[in-house]
Parts: sequence; C-alpha cells; structure tokens
Amino acid sequence: MHRWLILILLTLVACQTGRETALQISSPDKSIVLSLALENGSPVYQVSVDGKTLIRPSSLGIALRNQPDFSGPYKLVDHELNAVNESWETVWGQEKHISNHFNGMKILLQESSSTQRYINLHFRAFNDGIAFRYEIPRQAGIDSLFITEERTEFKFSSDAEAWWNEGTYLFDTPEQLYYHTNLSSIDSANTPVTCKTEDGLYISIHEANLTDYAGMILEKDTADPLKFYTSLVPWPDGDKVKTRTPLLTPWRTITIGRNAADLLRSRMILNLNEPNILSDVSWIKPMKYIGIWWGMHINKYTWTQGDRHGATTENTMAYIDFAAKNNIQGVLTEGWNQGWEDWGQDDALNLTTPYDDFDIEAVTKYARDNGVSFIGHHETTANVRSYERQLEDAFAFYADLGIRAVKTGYVGPIKPAGQYHYGQWMVQHFRRVVETAARYNITLDVHEPVKGTGIERTWPNMMTREGGRGQEYNAWSEGNPPNHTTILPFTRLLAGPMDYTPGIFDITFDGYKPENRVHSTLAKQLALMVVLYSPLQMAADLPENYQGQPAFQFVRDLATDWEETRILSAEIGEEVTIARKWQDEWFIGSITNEVARELAFPLSEMIQDSVVAECYADTKASDFKTSPTTIMIASYLATPGDSIKVRLAPGGGLAIRLRPMNANDYSLPLVFNLHSDQLK
Ligand code: NOJ
Ligand code: CA
Repeated sequence: MHRWLILILLTLVACQTGRETALQISSPDKSIVLSLALENGSPVYQVSVDGKTLIRPSSLGIALRNQPDFSGPYKLVDHELNAVNESWETVWGQEKHISNHFNGMKILLQESSSTQRYINLHFRAFNDGIAFRYEIPRQAGIDSLFITEERTEFKFSSDAEAWWNEGTYLFDTPEQLYYHTNLSSIDSANTPVTCKTEDGLYISIHEANLTDYAGMILEKDTADPLKFYTSLVPWPDGDKVKTRTPLLTPWRTITIGRNAADLLRSRMILNLNEPNILSDVSWIKPMKYIGIWWGMHINKYTWTQGDRHGATTENTMAYIDFAAKNNIQGVLTEGWNQGWEDWGQDDALNLTTPYDDFDIEAVTKYARDNGVSFIGHHETTANVRSYERQLEDAFAFYADLGIRAVKTGYVGPIKPAGQYHYGQWMVQHFRRVVETAARYNITLDVHEPVKGTGIERTWPNMMTREGGRGQEYNAWSEGNPPNHTTILPFTRLLAGPMDYTPGIFDITFDGYKPENRVHSTLAKQLALMVVLYSPLQMAADLPENYQGQPAFQFVRDLATDWEETRILSAEIGEEVTIARKWQDEWFIGSITNEVARELAFPLSEMIQDSVVAECYADTKASDFKTSPTTIMIASYLATPGDSIKVRLAPGGGLAIRLRPMNANDYSLPLVFNLHSDQLK
C-alpha cells in the first residue's frame, strides 16, 4: 500500500475548536484512542478504550533548573503520522517472532512566548496499549539541560484495583511483596504498576527504553487521589537528569488488556526499544544453570574462605559434573574471589583475584572440557566507583578464561551516597557494564539492577535481572507467600525476564534452617521454571537435593529458549498457566496462590497430533503447608481435542512436558485420567 494511502487511512482528526487543537491517533484495531490537545497552549493527552475514558486529560511538561520549564504555551508547528506493521526476530525470548503494529504521531511544538523553543512529542497507539515520549531537539540557544522534574501526569478516570510496591529510592524497594489496594490508596509506587479497572480492563503503567535518564516513580497528587505524576529519581544535588540536546526521554507506557492474560502477551515494551545492535550474537546462549548459591543463603556454605567455603575448586568441579550429567548448561560460583570478609570497605571485593582454595584456571578448563559454561560473579556491594575502577580488568580476566556469562550484584545503598539504583548516574553505569560485557562477548544476569525497560532487545547480552523479591527471601525471611509468584508475572515480569531462581526441592530445608522454608509445593517449584520467564533459568537447589528425585526429570528436559508462548489462563494474584514451545515440545507451567483450584485448558492451541503429556502434579494430599513434596508423576496420551483438567493444591502447581509419541507409548492411559488419578 502506498504511504499516502496508509496516512489517509489513519484515524487522524485535526480540528481547530476555538483556541484548542486536538490531534488523535487510534490503535490499528481502533479500540484505543490517544489524543493530544493544546489547552491554552499547554499539551494535554487523553486515552480512551472502547469509547470510554481511561486517562482523563493529563498534562505533559519538563521542569528545568537552568532555563524556563517546557510547559507551554505552544503553537502547533506541524504533525507527522506514521504507521508500522512489521515483525522482527528475537535473539532469544518468549517467542521467535514479535509483531510490532502501531499508529504513530509526532507533534512539533514551538513556544509562543519570546523564548520560542521547540519540543516534539511522540505518540504511539498499539492494540495492546499506548506510549509517548518527549524530544527536545537540537536548537539555537539550548545546550545543557538540567531537568528538575518531568511533569507527566496520569489522571485515571476511576478508582481501580492495583498491585504495586512502594516507590522509594531504597535499593531493596522492588524486593518487596506487592500491595493489593485501590489505586487511590497508593502514595508512591514503583513501576510497573498494574491495575484492573471497574470496566474489567487490565492496565499497567511503566516505561520503555530507559537510556541516560532517571528512572521514574509514580507519585499521587495529594489533591486528586486518581492523579499520579512522574517523579524522577534524583542526583545528590537534587537534579533529576543532567543532559543536553538532542534529548529523547524514555517512553511512558500504558499497557492495556481485556483480560489479565493480555498483559502477559503484550510485547509493547520490547517494541519500543531499538533493534539489536550486536552484529555477532552467536555467543549469546540461553541456559539452565545451577550454582554454589542457595547453600550460602541457607548457611550450608559461606561466601568467605574457611571451613564451610562453598566456592572451592573441588566443590565447583562436583557441581560441573552434576550439570554435565543432567543437561544443565551453566554453573555459577559465588564467593570465588578475595574480599568477602571485608564487605563494606572500599575496594574490598577484588574481582580478579580468586581465593587460595579456588583454582579458577583449573575450574574453567574443567567446565570447558565437560561442555559446561562457568558463570562468573561480580558482587559490587553497590560500591560503584570501586567496580568501575575494576570493570575493564574484571571482564578481560573472565574473557581470557573463556567465561561467557556473569552475574553482577549491587547489594546495599549505592556508594557514593546520594546516588540511587534507579537514578541517571546508575542508569549510565548499568549501561556501561552492558556495553563492556558485550565487548568481551559476555552475557549478564544483574541483581539489584535498574528496572527492566526492554533494553535487552537492543543489547541481547543483557539477559536477565532480579529487581524483585526472589526465592532468596525464603531462605532468610518470613518468605514469599504463595500469592507472590501469582502477582510477579503481572508486575515485575512485565518489565522483562526475572532471575527468581525457582526449583527448590527440599522445601523446608530443616537440616539447615528449621525456622525458614519455601511456601509452595514441589510441583509448583517445577511450574515456576516455566511461568517465570528467564533466559538464564536457575535450578536453585543443592545438587544433593536433586539426586535420585524423579521430579528432577522435568528440570533435565526443560528447554530454555522459546519459539512460541501461550497464556492458557491468568488472574492476577490467583493463578497463571503458561505454555511454551521449543522445537517439537511444549512445556506447561500452572501455579496457584494459597487457594486450591481446578483448571481445565484445551490442547488445541498447541498440538496438531497426539502427544505424550508427562505430568508433575499435586495430589489430593499435597498442600504447601502440610505436605509440600507430595507429587504425582505420570505420563498420559493426549490428543489435540483433549482438555487437561487438573487440580492445583493450596500453594500448588502443575508442570507438563508435551512430547511427540513413540511406538511404545500406545499403552499409556488417556490424559482424561489425570484429574481422577490426582484425587485417588
Ligand atoms: C544478593 C543477590 O540477590 C544474591 O543472589 C547474591 O547471592 C547475594 N546478593 C550476594 O552477592
Ligand atoms: Ca537481591
């Protein structure tokens, strides 16, 4: 179709009503309308879905220290429309191909006051949400910009149910459980903030492509409980962003779904990021990994050298043996380097000097000889200057040893004081690490990271991150209640992959810490490995807890990269069922909160021929509190016409591998029997 024809087909309305100019675009399916008006010369946007207002007229603006704010009055100079309908191929991901389909509009504004500065606004309307960003183009008279606040508002039209955690600058803020309240009860929140409206829409507010800018928090307006505005994380001197023209801010995003599953299907955040810029990606490999890690969290091992040191040459080689035998591609070793006993001191952690009992040359050679990828570890204790001093050497050191993946960590408040994990200075730092790692062909798993905003599309070596309350909390706190993992997919994971570290089999680990435990059944731990997407997916437990466990077969078989993903059922805080395809197999994970429930999902979306369903299910007796490790493992024949009916125990789950049939599978029972077998 010719470009002009596409433009005519766009539902653009440009009308002069008195002194107001209104411009609008709609989503390709026309259901979402995003409009921009100049009210007394100041820009105001609005969003409606199916003809009903979702976001009331909300202001846009940028406040500056070194010059007047960008808040208008403006005159409309021009507007440009574009429409994109394309599909792109992922390097790794929840699917091989992603569709990017939107109508876009760029609005060029100029101040009508004597300053006459220019600012452009970019808007996009997708079928699954809307996004907008500011651009301050290069222009005479403006060079540096010291942003003291971005004045973007989100004025909701009604009070919605919301899932959120507090928006403070503390490093572990995102590592909190989620509140479930009305929107109006939020004071400030981290994004993604996810809501369900009275009209049954599911929406999530976040940002995309956070590059050389400060992360945003949503703050409630004290006068209007349904009005939120962006609050950027500051520098020590109070500035929010120190930059220059041309400036393109991150995208402000509102993902919109008709049901909870739609939020999980949306790839809008990735679509709003730039394409992959790495020419060679052959070294970027999704993988399952185990690690000398949980052992430290449950006090079996120490990070420091001593009697219980985890990261010894011998122990790491034993982990490598276990990985090689069990189709696990990676082994992480924490506590391998000198300095853990000096935690907190400047330059304490030496990222190029192993402990005496850890022969890193021997270990990495052993890993290579056994076809296992050794995963390095850079704990920085958030001493960022110290890390930057070592950065180049630390990555060169690992690259020389053939290491292709590194986990980093930033525990504690950022040093220097007054900088924050989500501030611009750290956004720059985190990106510098991604770029440095890429130069050495190293992939990253970042703990205590900046929030995900989809930059892994551009930098596919930025594979996974924590940035949420993970399994580790079960080792040393009151833990994560069963509903936490049924909220994470709709909140934290909308920002990108999460290194939650599922797969604990010794649920109560009474041999180490009787007062702590995991709050799920064993089947749910397997299911989480499918549900909580991470291209580096950890099987977190100690190898000895996997040894001889029939349920470990699911972990052995599990794939790590996906051609397709299907959301089979979903309700925030209640249950999620996700199916993922790799080659001719599907892996299904289903989880529930503390409530037992029955679910049925048809297989027609996934298979065309009969298959074997290898099921790892809760039994009648399973219960996360009283009988967490009771599990039923059985194989059934399933046809495309079948529905799988299943019972999930309180805090329970279900994991299934669907694989092609062999000649000797004909005698297997039909999948129809699964539910009754569970109840026997
Ligand atoms: C916190 C990380 O989340 C955890 O995985 C790691 O073991 C510790 N920091 C030590 O680096
Ligand atoms: Ca952490």
